[in-house]
Amino acid sequence: MKSNMEQDILKVLYTEEEIKARVQEMGDALYDQFHDKNPLFVGVLNGCFIFMADLVRASQMKSQLEFIGLSSYQNGVKSSGVVQITRDLQSDIHGRNLIVVEDILDSGNTLAFLKKYLLAKGAATVNIVTLLDKPSRREKAITADIAGFIVPDEFVVGYGLDYGQQYRNIPYIGVLKPQVYERNEE
Ligand code: XMP
Ligand code: MG
Repeated sequence: MKSNMEQDILKVLYTEEEIKARVQEMGDALYDQFHDKNPLFVGVLNGCFIFMADLVRASQMKSQLEFIGLSSYQNGVKSSGVVQITRDLQSDIHGRNLIVVEDILDSGNTLAFLKKYLLAKGAATVNIVTLLDKPSRREKAITADIAGFIVPDEFVVGYGLDYGQQYRNIPYIGVLKPQVYERNEE
């Protein structure tokens, strides 16, 4: 397959096959827990878009879906700590059982903000599903209910995760070469 992005990847952390197998396990777990609860998936844009597409198909249960746009990164590699809603929910979540779908739980700023926001809007329950969890960098006391993979403290891209909105379309999860962001942050 042709790619002009591979040259910026230091190493592959999870292959397409490994991701697929793990996402199916997560979908099965969600089915067991939620199939009789008509849950509402709430995807956190933009990073969730590929994971969410695979996860909802892996879970095969009657459910609905929604998206919220949040931003805490000003195109860099570190969280600014200030979370902004860039696109709000379009439906009423009052009394609903929510499954929040996030690409990576890192400092925890984004999901700590979101969980509070959703409960304040009347959600009955808020479960957090994250593809990746980077516990070494946590600043807020928040944990995922389901985490796909625990990742080391490196900046990862692919399968929805970006650097400066690029690399989201790489089919696996890899570590970006530090030169790629160092050359932009000098
Ligand atoms: P926080 O720090 O708020 O981060 O838990 C959550 C959001 O930050 C983005 N993020 C990353 N994106 N590689 C990425 O491509 C990373 O290593 C990384 N760490 C955090 C991500 O969008 C997530 O929604
Ligand atoms: Mg994100």
